[in-house]
Amino acid sequence: MESHIEHRVRQLQQQLTDHNYHYHVLDDPKISDAEYDRLMQELIHLETAHPELKTPDSPTQRVGGAPLPAFDHAEHTLPMLSLDNAFSDQDILEFHARMVKNIGSSDILYTAEPKLDGVAIELRYENGVLVQAVTRGDGLVGEVVTDNVRTIRSVPLGVRRDMLPCPGLLEVRGEVYISRAGFQELNRQRENRGEPVFANPRNAAAGSLRQLDSTITASRPLDLFVYGRGQVDGLVFDSQAGFLDALTALGFPVNPLVKKQISIEQALAFYRELIEIRPDLPYEIDGMVIKVDRVAFQEMLGEKIKSPRWAVACKFAAVEEITRITDIVVQVGRTGTLTPVAVLEPVQVGGVTVSRATLHNMDEIRKKDIRIGDNALVTRAGDVIPKVVSILPADRTGRERKFDMPSLCPVCRSQVQRLEGESAVKCINAACPAQRKERIRHFASKKGFDIEGLGKKLVEQLVDEGLLTSFADLFTLNQAQLIPLERMAEKSAHNLVTAIDKARRISMRRFIFALGIDHTGEHAARLLARRFDTLEDLMAASREDLEAIHGLGTITADAIAGFFANPDNRALITRLTRSGVHIVNSLSEPAGPKDHVFAGKTVVLTGTLAAMTRGEAKKRLLDLGAKVTGSVSKNTDFLVAGTDAGSKLAKAMALNVPILDEDRFMTLLES
Ligand code: IVH
Repeated sequence: MESHIEHRVRQLQQQLTDHNYHYHVLDDPKISDAEYDRLMQELIHLETAHPELKTPDSPTQRVGGAPLPAFDHAEHTLPMLSLDNAFSDQDILEFHARMVKNIGSSDILYTAEPKLDGVAIELRYENGVLVQAVTRGDGLVGEVVTDNVRTIRSVPLGVRRDMLPCPGLLEVRGEVYISRAGFQELNRQRENRGEPVFANPRNAAAGSLRQLDSTITASRPLDLFVYGRGQVDGLVFDSQAGFLDALTALGFPVNPLVKKQISIEQALAFYRELIEIRPDLPYEIDGMVIKVDRVAFQEMLGEKIKSPRWAVACKFAAVEEITRITDIVVQVGRTGTLTPVAVLEPVQVGGVTVSRATLHNMDEIRKKDIRIGDNALVTRAGDVIPKVVSILPADRTGRERKFDMPSLCPVCRSQVQRLEGESAVKCINAACPAQRKERIRHFASKKGFDIEGLGKKLVEQLVDEGLLTSFADLFTLNQAQLIPLERMAEKSAHNLVTAIDKARRISMRRFIFALGIDHTGEHAARLLARRFDTLEDLMAASREDLEAIHGLGTITADAIAGFFANPDNRALITRLTRSGVHIVNSLSEPAGPKDHVFAGKTVVLTGTLAAMTRGEAKKRLLDLGAKVTGSVSKNTDFLVAGTDAGSKLAKAMALNVPILDEDRFMTLLES
């Protein structure tokens, strides 16, 4: 009996660890969130009844534990060094010249990695099990943040043992970071709760990691990439590339953009490529790190006090420009929030023309004393969204004008309200066309119903023409209504109706996100989709049921309960389901012969495949109904990356296009 339970516990631990790895490291889930949760509940239940079966690397051990009074300190086995900086191609070539001179050969290969802007961490695995996580600290002694780091889903609690023998000791170093999306969501939640927002993702990551209460850390969207080593016993590698490959095999998240064993010229090309794709990456980077690839060379070169001689951080030039604020206008968002936006004299910032920058709210405008007519320092700080850093008071002429928020909504002219305890000013007229447009746009967006071709302009046109009053009208639109519209032809009308039709089948998570409930972004939608199998269950949930969901704050729970309690919203949902919107659990549905995963998908092939030529691969895909194109765009559904994949892989990464390696591709072809 006992051994039967033990068997089941071990099986669940193994399965959940594996699912976790597929979800958080490979970004390629194998089962639905609901199924994952069921397995997790079963394991928690069994481990509670039989605590002796709990292991430190059990997937149940990520939830965070009792708060600590203070952090312990621990000495690093080997110091955690910093890096020297290079700021230009010339600096990089000088670094290379030093390497050539010291190694005595010009035949040097490098491994180049994006430099993430987060918090450096060292993870210690003894016999494959995570036993300690320590921050960099002063390089010699850091803070022990093991409980916190265990809550980060992409951190393996134990190494994978299926490809390599388990090393006896493995100290892995890497960067804990927060993605741009995670950062925005986190700040939005903080703003809603009246808490101070984080200035940038780096601060957010550092603040989240340095919590004495690990349950707080568990609620933060922290992530990890690994790139370095401390002391290691029982792992064979003779190059940085080999070490990274070993880490990948052991289940660690290694940045897929890394370029292994390249020449200095290729490293320079990669530097330029990173500068270009930087704004589109899902996380912030502040440079590239070049490392002499061969460990034997690294050892020859040695270290200085603070940094190794064999590596250099190639930083990006700060992107800040001066321009004039010609006006401040007010935008009305999906939930009615009025946002002041600076209209700028167009200026190039890091290769992108910037003509607007959000000023967030009146508090921000007062704090920075921003006036219309001011000259301002504008940055993109590695961010897609331009920001006004500060104004230049010395440039003032006295003709600048102060700005104040309007008391009427600039779109519907109804009285605005400043909600208690919030810095935001809101238009509370639910019929306000600006809100309507934003709600429909959000509904149709990539993370929602993903209706191809239904962008901002078209939504505006459809609302202005009276064809859409809410998103529920989308599914009853027909070609005859669309064709008479300006800039609309038969073909485009047909395409739109087809795209809308295609979007009818949707996952629970996307459906919830698309509704645009206050405070309910991607993360909350995911939590809800995990907890509730059907829409009916969700709609029937009480405020208490919602509040009981771990990770969902009370404000969000209130907003969701309030949304579904509103008869207008219930009517909208009924209209959606009546017009054929169907919530599917895409992950657990088997693919029939006609709806093969590749059917109707746009696929790009790159690199070399071992099993077939690209031509053969293309033919197989076409036979399955896929479209095969030559370049990666946001419309690409999959990138198949063989070995030596180049810029297409980088682009796909940047655009968050799912990437299939050859194994995965072959499995899907055969499925
Ligand atoms: S290697 C001995 N690789 O940059 C090598 N560092 O400015 C030391 N960083 O403290 C670090 N990405 O926090 C390395 N791919 C990468 C990195 C990286 C980010 C950070 C790290 C380090 C700092 C040095």
